[in-house]
This record gives sequence, C-alpha cells and structure tokens, in this order.
Amino acid sequence: MSRKNKQKLELTWIGKENRPKLEPRILLEDPSRSYHASHRVKPDARPGEPGFPSDLFDNRLIFGDNLLALKALEAEFTGKVKCVYIDPPFNTGQAFDHYEDGLEHSLWLSLMRDRLELLRALLSSDGTLWIHLDDNEVHYLKVVMDEMFGRECFVSAIAWRAADSSNNDAKQFSIDHNTILVYSREPGWLSRTLPRTDEANAHYKNPDNDPRGPWFMGNVSSPHPREKLQYDMPTPSGKQIPHPHNGWRWSLDLARKKIAAGQIVFVDDETRIIHKTYLADQKGLAPSSIWHDIKQTGHNRQAKYELKKLFPDKPTTELFSTPKPERLIERVLRIATKEGDWVLDSFAGSGTTGAVAHKMGRQWIMVERGDHCHEFIDPRLRKVIGGQDKGGVTDATDWKGGGGFRYYNLAPSLLEKDRWGNWVISKEYNAEMLTEALCKLEGFAYAPSETEYWRHGHSTERDFIYVTTQPLTRDMLAKLSDEVGDDCTLLVMCKSFRGKASFPNLTVKKIPNAVMAKCEWGQDDYSLEIRNLPEPEPSADDEQANTSPGKTKVLRGKRKPKPSSGNEEPTLFPATEGSSKAKASGAKGARR
Ligand SMILES: C[S@@+](CC[C@H](N)C(=O)[O-])C[C@H]1O[C@@H](n2cnc3c(N)ncnc32)[C@H](O)[C@@H]1O
Repeated sequence: MSRKNKQKLELTWIGKENRPKLEPRILLEDPSRSYHASHRVKPDARPGEPGFPSDLFDNRLIFGDNLLALKALEAEFTGKVKCVYIDPPFNTGQAFDHYEDGLEHSLWLSLMRDRLELLRALLSSDGTLWIHLDDNEVHYLKVVMDEMFGRECFVSAIAWRAADSSNNDAKQFSIDHNTILVYSREPGWLSRTLPRTDEANAHYKNPDNDPRGPWFMGNVSSPHPREKLQYDMPTPSGKQIPHPHNGWRWSLDLARKKIAAGQIVFVDDETRIIHKTYLADQKGLAPSSIWHDIKQTGHNRQAKYELKKLFPDKPTTELFSTPKPERLIERVLRIATKEGDWVLDSFAGSGTTGAVAHKMGRQWIMVERGDHCHEFIDPRLRKVIGGQDKGGVTDATDWKGGGGFRYYNLAPSLLEKDRWGNWVISKEYNAEMLTEALCKLEGFAYAPSETEYWRHGHSTERDFIYVTTQPLTRDMLAKLSDEVGDDCTLLVMCKSFRGKASFPNLTVKKIPNAVMAKCEWGQDDYSLEIRNLPEPEPSADDEQANTSPGKTKVLRGKRKPKPSSGNEEPTLFPATEGSSKAKASGAKGARR
C-alpha cells in the first residue's frame, strides 16, 4: 500500500472533531482555606539525605472543573509532573438515562480525551499516567490513548482486584477487578522496583548451607537460539555436558568465571549444572500486572472502611461512595515516583491520592469540583498534616505529620458581556489579576519587577510584557521605548493608545480586542451537566445529533433503570457527585 493511502487505525465517535478552545484561567489562592502544619519538621533536609523532602507546604488543592484547572496549570507545570493517577467516573450508564448508547459513549470519550491531552502535556519526560477504569469503557479508551500517547508508550493494563469477595448473584460473571491503564510520556520508560516480599523470598533456600545464603535454581539456557552459546560444557573430570537447544545462558568464558565463583555447580555425576541465583544479589521486584493480593493493594470495601475511620461521626450513607484504598495508591506511587516528585489527580474524590502522596513525601496537586472537596478532601488532608490520621498507609510510610497545602479557586472568565452584549473585562478582575491573566494568555511568565514599573512578566530574558488600563499617549510610548532600550523588546497591552508611532522595541495591543479570538470566554462548565439537558421528546424522529457541548439533543427512549447494587458509580462529571445521592446503577455487576 502506498504511504499516501495508508490509513490510521483509530476509533471514531460522534463529536470527536470538536475541541473546546479553553481560556487559560488564573488560579486564586484562598488563604483562609489553605493549611499548613505549625512548624516544619525537617526544614534543612537536602535531596539524598534522610528526611528529604523537608515539609512540603506548597501542595495544591484546586476546587473547580478539571478541564479549566488543567489548562490553568499548563503554564507552570508543563513537563513537570512525574505521575498522574486518575480515577474518573467509569461511565456505568447511570448519568445517561435519556441518551442512546452511542451518544453517551461519545460524550464520555470526548470529555476524557480533552482532559487526557492536557494531562499528557503536564507529564515530565520520565512521567507516567495511570487511569483507573472498568469494563464499561476501558477497551475504548485504550484505543484512544494509543492514538494520543502512541502505542509504544503503552506500559500495562493492570488488573486490580477491587472486590474482596465474589458476587454469587451475578448472572454471567462476578466482575471483581478494575483495570488501570498505564502510559508513559516517552517510549522506553523504566519502572522502579518494589520491595521484595516474604513470598518472593520464600523461593530461595539453602539446602547445602552455602555461606552466601539462600539461593534459587536459575535458568541455564539462553532465551533465544545463539550459535555462540551452543557449546558443550566441560566438566571438572573432563566430560562434556551437551548444550540446551538454544545454547547456554553465558559464553564459555563467563561460565568458567561463574564455576570458579561457585555460582555454577555440577551435580554429582556431572550430567547437569545448577545455576545458583543468590537472594543477597537480588534487587527489588519488577511490578506484576496482576494486583490481586488484597493485603498489599487493598480493595473497595477497605477504602470505605478507611474513610469511615477518618470520619467516624459521619453516617456510613453520607460517606464518599467510591474512594480507593490508600495501599493501591501507595503501590502506584512506589512504582512511578520518588520523594519530592509531583503527583497529580484531577478527579480527586475523597482525596486518597493527595493523602498518600503527602505521607510518602511527594508533592501533590488535586482537582475536585464536587462539594466533597470541602466535605472530605480538605478535612482529610488537615488530619494527615496534623498527624491525626492513623489509618491507611500511615504506619507503612512512618508518617508523623507536617507539611501543608494551598487552596485555590479558578478565577472567573477574564471577559464578560456588558449590558449591550459587548465583551468587556470582568468587574471581578483587579489590576493584578488582569496582569496575571494577560501574561498567561500571551505566554509570558508573570513576574512583576520591583524596580521597573513596566516589567510585569517575561517570555525570554529580553522580552517583557507591560499591562495597563491607562490610555497611552505617543509621548508615554516614546518614554517607554527609551526605558526598554535597544536590547530588549516589550509587549504593551493597554486599553487604548493615541498617536500613530512605531517604536521598533515595542508591540502595542489593545485589550480586550487583542485577545478576543484567543479562546472561548465566559464558559465555566465543560462538564456537560447531564441532568440539565433537555428531557426526551416523544417523537422518534431524532436522527440528527448535535454534539457540540451544551447543545446535545439526541433523545431516544429512557434506559430501563437496573436495580441498585449498593455500589453506585458517581454520575459522569456532574457538579455534586460522588455522594450517596448517585442514582441507581446500570453497571453490569461491576463494583467499585
Ligand atoms: C471515582 S471518584 C474518584 C475517587 C478517588 N479516587 C478517591 O479515592 O476518593 C471521581 C471524582 O471525579 C470528580 N469529577 C468528575 N468530573 C469532574 C470534573 N469535570 N472536574 C473535577 N472533578 C470531577 C467527581 O466529583 C468524583 O469525586
């Protein structure tokens, strides 16, 4: 097939081509909600020293829609995040009672694709993204992820045992696992190893009292046929042991060294060799793709129990309904990160990822748009920081308390419509916010200078930005041009300017006109609030699907609600999900 006709393997869906043009919002810290320990535990620890990192105060909890939040993080965090773990709504169908299957899957895929593209850009070159799903969407998302990351960046599809007991009432299968897809930012990512377990060490024995300790009978043959390794092994008494089909594992030279070192020994009649692999020489364990040991990676019921212990006064029915166990996240972070690395969870739920990252000395960012951000995440992290959380992985990580986090809201849209329908700068913006927002929009790092009034940010060492709401005259521009000098350039964003003049080191733009076309303004909800969509119309004449966000209108008969499993999936991306208010699940026996 000619290269021209080569077709890409891809999944298509309704609305795949629609992409929101996101406004890069600024984040506003609310100091009254930020929290940190009263003293730093090990303020002077340096990388490599015990106790590093010292108390981490600058973790971030962002309240709001994660699409806008991820866009807001882009300027500061592109290429900096070592591990993204997300556990989005699985799309079990309960949010889409009124929609046909094709459309609901399409919407879910579009919502996820938009977020995953931003998440991928935030990853460092040695970073990985872990996405926790179940059978409802995992296979579709795998194809989409292959398209976004490249198939060569697919690392594994981990089967995590989510249920501690099977469901005997299941009519087909009791679905007891979830799948965690792992992708790396770049091909060839190398996993960290896990600490050795007693079970793995039990394979090593010492039947001959070898002074080097327990050993295991290792493989002696080459994994692939190699002519050079296909020699007969000379024995101490001069016999020859024929090589295995593919050849030995070592060249003759190396085999001789191992014989001399006692790592290769001959059985009494010299008809076989034994390759001794010593426990003392073993490094950590390569992670397996099956996580079935509930003692090591927890299970769903345990996660709820952990939360109950943290919030003993809350009735069980009011607890966050789909938390993940701390041990599961600990395993992820052990494989993907080291102390001090940035970890991000943009579907934070009850805050498990941040809690575990904190206890493990990683820096974290969490985004959550539901009220449980205040009901669970905030108090949970305060308990972790205050050393009052005694559960989860506290003992395993030897966590004693410390550190802190900053709490952020997303700023409102920079532009709003005035009473005549014209876009104007939002009344909620003060001069500082306006400057920061324009820096972000124009790709400048916001860094106001204390000495030069016109230096509000920079894109390079010699390229600066100045934002002002003042009208500028020709004389003012001339003075600015002088101050900037011939070696530097300045982007001037002002409300208006008078006098036609061109200064080679100045680019003058008017706000808001200059930024109007950059993105969508005044758009706060990219979550597609399913519950607010129109009710189904009785007519069956509904072929036309308009899938642009907010306009969806393909309404065929209601799905038959399935009986509640008692393990409800939160609805898809709504504002106040995740609580026990979730509707009856249509999940196919899947349990979280
Ligand atoms: C399954 S829960 C995550 C549970 C979490 N792993 C834990 O251990 O608690 C999914 C979360 O994603 C949140 N979510 C859904 N859509 C969102 C959006 N557009 N922006 C931010 N959070 C969102 C929901 O509110 C819910 O809390």
